[in-house]
Amino acid sequence: MTEEDFITHAHPTTIEKDVVSSVAPSNIALIKYWGKYGNQLPENASVSFTLSNCHTKTTLSYQKKDSEGFDFSVFLDDAPAPSFEPKISTFFERIKEYIPFLEKYSFTIHTTNSFPHSSGIASSASGMSAMALCLVRMEQQMNPQMNQALVTRKASFLARLGSGSASRSIEGPLVVWGKHPKIEGSSNLYGVPFPYKVHPIFENFQDTILLVDKGEKQVSSTLGHDLMHGHPFARQRFEKANANLTALISVLESGDLSEFIHIVESEALSLHAMMMTSRPYFILMKPNTLEIINRIWAFRKKTGTSVCFTLDAGANVHVLYPFSEKEKVRSFIKEELSAFCKDGAFIIDQAGSGAQLL
Ligand code: DP6
Repeated sequence: MTEEDFITHAHPTTIEKDVVSSVAPSNIALIKYWGKYGNQLPENASVSFTLSNCHTKTTLSYQKKDSEGFDFSVFLDDAPAPSFEPKISTFFERIKEYIPFLEKYSFTIHTTNSFPHSSGIASSASGMSAMALCLVRMEQQMNPQMNQALVTRKASFLARLGSGSASRSIEGPLVVWGKHPKIEGSSNLYGVPFPYKVHPIFENFQDTILLVDKGEKQVSSTLGHDLMHGHPFARQRFEKANANLTALISVLESGDLSEFIHIVESEALSLHAMMMTSRPYFILMKPNTLEIINRIWAFRKKTGTSVCFTLDAGANVHVLYPFSEKEKVRSFIKEELSAFCKDGAFIIDQAGSGAQLL
């Protein structure tokens, strides 16, 4: 599909006012998206596990208006959240071509996260995908012939324009975003479910998020992506990410966990290496991040389990492990790793199936 396919020309029904709600999860990338160009297009393809417990619930109330321009107010946990307004304005600006009635309504947006706002977990993937799904549902109410497949795809398309990684939160449990020669149907414009066979070992894959640093992100992803422009290793990084995704296709099919671990950990460290070698440069890990990584490696060696880690652009550690190793790894996390988390905090999560209308 092309960008034009997401423009709707006629809306047969007009609705005076209504309310739509959705819930959308966060996701954790195995192959990282880091570097973008043009209108929120990724420099390389990425793939993630959609999560389950870390999610955002959004309720969008809309009412027809006569005045020009965007009109919305936003609430987080029922309290006004003016700090979200610039991000939403940018999002509306980017999507108005595809949701032409956006300026004809005033919106009240109520949003709430299942994880604490101060946990250092980015809410942009879950928040933007929840909002995108509400808006497409609103469009479907005015255009009842819009089929479900288009609703899903357009939600991912719009979510991408809000935040790239959000395009991977509409469906699950494994979603690819970015055109890749070996992945049929993949696109730079929206996420698609990973289309090939996946070994049962990856079913209900576990992700426990260790909250090492609960503060605001040290470097925003916008700035981080920007640092890939003119980065001395950018080209090699994009090629390597695509090659890692090619390798991951057969690993996901065969269930080769040691190769899985190698690819996933190497992706996480490469993302951080990009930040350490950009200008300006940043170290996003904290001493406890490194301590946790070393302990995961030692535990894996000692026990022969297949626990591994990944990181996003921050200090928190995502501990990944198969469902069958749940008991062993959970005790390890509780007894050993939680000591390196802020206030001992971690969030237990696992692969999930994506966003839903409520
Ligand atoms: C490190 O999706 O937050 O989590 O498109 O600027 O909103 P924007 O960036 P964002 O980037 C997240 C990158 C990452 C890796 C990943 O999720 O693939």
